[in-house]
Amino acid sequence: MAKVKITETVLRDAHQSLIATRMTTDEMLPILEKLDNVGYNALEAWGGATFDACMRFLNEDPWERLRKIKAVATKTPLQMLYRGQNILGYKHYADDVVDYFTQKAVANGINIIRVFDALNDFRNIERTMKATHKEGGHAQGCISYTISPYHNIDKYVADCKQLQDMGADSICIKDMAGLLLPYDAYELVKAIKANVDLPLELHTHYTSGVASMTYLKAIEAGVDIVDCAISPLALGTSQPATEPIVASLQGTENDTGLDLNLLTEIADYFKPLREKYLSSKLLNPKVMGVDVNTLKYQVPGGMLSNLVSQLSQAGKIDQLDEVLKEVPRVREDMGFPPLVTPSSQIVGTQAVMNVIAGERYKMVPVESKDIVRGKYGQTPAPISDEIRTKIIGDEQPITCRPADMIEPELPSLREECSKMPEGWIQQDEDILTYALFPKVAPKFFEARLAIQNGTYEAPVEKETPAAPKAKTTDTVERSYSVKVNGVEYIVDVEEYTPGAEPAPAAASAPAATPAPAAAPAPAAAPAAAGSTQVVCPMPGTILDVKVSVGQQVTKGQVLLILEAMKMENEIVAPQDGTVASINVQKGATVNSGDVLATL
Ligand code: CO
Repeated sequence: MAKVKITETVLRDAHQSLIATRMTTDEMLPILEKLDNVGYNALEAWGGATFDACMRFLNEDPWERLRKIKAVATKTPLQMLYRGQNILGYKHYADDVVDYFTQKAVANGINIIRVFDALNDFRNIERTMKATHKEGGHAQGCISYTISPYHNIDKYVADCKQLQDMGADSICIKDMAGLLLPYDAYELVKAIKANVDLPLELHTHYTSGVASMTYLKAIEAGVDIVDCAISPLALGTSQPATEPIVASLQGTENDTGLDLNLLTEIADYFKPLREKYLSSKLLNPKVMGVDVNTLKYQVPGGMLSNLVSQLSQAGKIDQLDEVLKEVPRVREDMGFPPLVTPSSQIVGTQAVMNVIAGERYKMVPVESKDIVRGKYGQTPAPISDEIRTKIIGDEQPITCRPADMIEPELPSLREECSKMPEGWIQQDEDILTYALFPKVAPKFFEARLAIQNGTYEAPVEKETPAAPKAKTTDTVERSYSVKVNGVEYIVDVEEYTPGAEPAPAAASAPAATPAPAAAPAPAAAPAAAGSTQVVCPMPGTILDVKVSVGQQVTKGQVLLILEAMKMENEIVAPQDGTVASINVQKGATVNSGDVLATL
């Protein structure tokens, strides 16, 4: 009697984690019938970063992919990963968009919607769960697993009870960073199963090398489902491999009942693909090893590589130790958020800024302020008055569900889509595609039409195989070749998405030399008696200039917006005064110490 069930992640998380979400629909279709015959609990096949990557890198319609998969895999439930009120994007959407997206996801073939919120504020996933039920789908609620003084077994059990009360059909312990250790998993699963009467699934990553031990202990404790990937796309930053788990449980009371011979045939199909990804450098052998730092610092592997990348770019890599000590302090200040998109980026960047600026919270990106403002939801632990005042002054945080402050968005989205060139919008779902990725979608619509008309020409920009990320990430980047005065530079560019994972240092691209974007800031006029210089705290780009010369300003008023480390920072007046000079323009590249303005 089969007892433990397996969800196969090869069509979503496995390739998202190992090869930057680049598996194509054509690579999936030939093996789907066999996958469908295995008897998995589900095939995770959609959501996460697949939607964006389909369009951005593969010129594929993500909805069409889903329909094609569904047409073949008729027996096994299809599962997707859904980021609560963010859906698959990076900001909170209005409820009408959440409802419509859920409706279309189910209508096109999704059976199980796995929904999570980065802060475990379940008000942010409630709407998705309701919409899923309305469409007849299975709503799986997640607890994002993390380690902190505020996160203990009692808290997680209470979280699971809350999910049950909200109507979850099953629960997933989502260990996105691979932090869950075997014996902790045993205790956690035992406690949840003793208190909550719902199927319990465990999702982890092999990053820290403990994942199959963790699964075994969780299975002994009674977990119902574990997430695995077929062996050629397993391990490393992906999931534990399916076949060894199946073999280990054979003949025990937890036997999965899955056919190892059939799994071997499936593995044989993916082996040459793995070789192809390795030789095209899409699969970096580096991500296949054990990342001990994950265990040591309890931060996701990807977050660590981002910190290194940010510090290198600022020329401050020697301060990595300080930053690693600062990360837990910032996390505590911000109410111990689990470190997953977008909180991992916000906490990491704030820690880097605190160290580089030489003063804690001297520089505070808008995203950090928004966490304190309650705009992402309620943090696990309260934020102290001291930190709140330091970061947002007298402003009062919101306490309602963040999406309650968003007006319906579909009418204006439909309006915008109706103005697009003829042939771009081909199905109702395109409105949702545009809602989620307003920059990528129009380019994709245009390319799709051209492909259909046989007039498509690949873009001139050269896309190098992305440096695979040693982590699970929900962002994608692309490389451009830029010529400046006849010299070619490879520049890695990532769409600015608040909360998006900054690109890690490129492993294979030539040294990226930023094209000189603007003349250096003019030297500051000697400060006259009684004048104050506004000095740039860290390297970045001026996004906006908010005041003009001669204008009266008050202490704390925003003078300029500086983009540093992919986040927006307000440069404010240090005191009351009159703007005597502004030494930079919009778009200017600036360095620490540059005088931006004089009061
Ligand atoms: Co994952």
